[in-house]
Amino acid sequence: MNGYRDLRVALLGCGSVGAQTARLILEHGEELASRIGARLTLAGIAVRDVTAKRDVDLPQELFTTDAERLVQGADIVIELMGGIEPARTLIMQALQGGADVVTANKALIAAYGSELSDAAEQVGAQLSYEAAVAAAIPILRPLRESLAGDHITRVLGIVNGSTNYILDRMDRFGDSAEDAMRVASELGYLEADPTLDVEGYDAAQKATILASIAFHTEVPVAAVYREGISGITLTQIEAAKHAGFVIKLLAIAERITAADGVAGVSARVYPALIRRDHPLAAVYGGKNAVFVEAEAAGELMFYGAGAGGAETASAVLGDLVSAARRHVVGG
Ligand code: HSE
Repeated sequence: MNGYRDLRVALLGCGSVGAQTARLILEHGEELASRIGARLTLAGIAVRDVTAKRDVDLPQELFTTDAERLVQGADIVIELMGGIEPARTLIMQALQGGADVVTANKALIAAYGSELSDAAEQVGAQLSYEAAVAAAIPILRPLRESLAGDHITRVLGIVNGSTNYILDRMDRFGDSAEDAMRVASELGYLEADPTLDVEGYDAAQKATILASIAFHTEVPVAAVYREGISGITLTQIEAAKHAGFVIKLLAIAERITAADGVAGVSARVYPALIRRDHPLAAVYGGKNAVFVEAEAAGELMFYGAGAGGAETASAVLGDLVSAARRHVVGG
């Protein structure tokens, strides 16, 4: 591997996604180096407690509590801490120092994505967050790049795995809402605060990110109409089934033209009735899917795992490799 330039990668956070990301960097390092033309060196992993037990066995010397110092020497920073602070400040510091940043932090990007993107643009750095929406499913890059020459008219997504799991259990197995929620919780699908899932906040954050990219305009999370699934009963689900429909929590973003001719974007999250012959009706369990309608491409569907340590880490690695390639091309 001699001859490859070293790129210092700083990892912030080592929960299930962080641990899997570190594992993939370490295990796939050699193969990635030849693919990228540069070696990804995991410079350190910033955590709150260096002695905490991790999902993956990782070299102890990588761990540090000094996130700021780690960020300072990095070419690429991966933020997987979650939450707004200190993630926002650390990402800002990284970008201002010229590092590229990869994050899976949907709450942060939904609230501060445009501020952080502006900061990245000012210094010519790259901020990428494919893992923030629908985890393993490549959806942001296809919207931004593959469909860049088309005119997207509508995006419909099942972007919250836990509520999809709950509704699916009720629909297919006749579980009560309480039983379905308990199983979803046991499987680790729910956020630490399940209200974020059940009341549609998590899906609304993802809708904001999808809408902003699909329609090239800022769609604040406060502008997303939001209704969760807490009011949905088994009786309603069975009535829908009887009529040939399934209830899914959808995030919908679409171009609209108001009566006065002014064009805009409508974004909303709510439990919607879907005809059983629509492809989104067959998205079972905790899976996610995003259905895109575009003028020239027609209908497209992106399907896969919307959560999980390794699954989310796959999307993080994709962004990492993309950032690393920029260093080689520009270096
Ligand atoms: N709680 C989220 C979900 C995790 O259920 O989809 C992935 O963002």
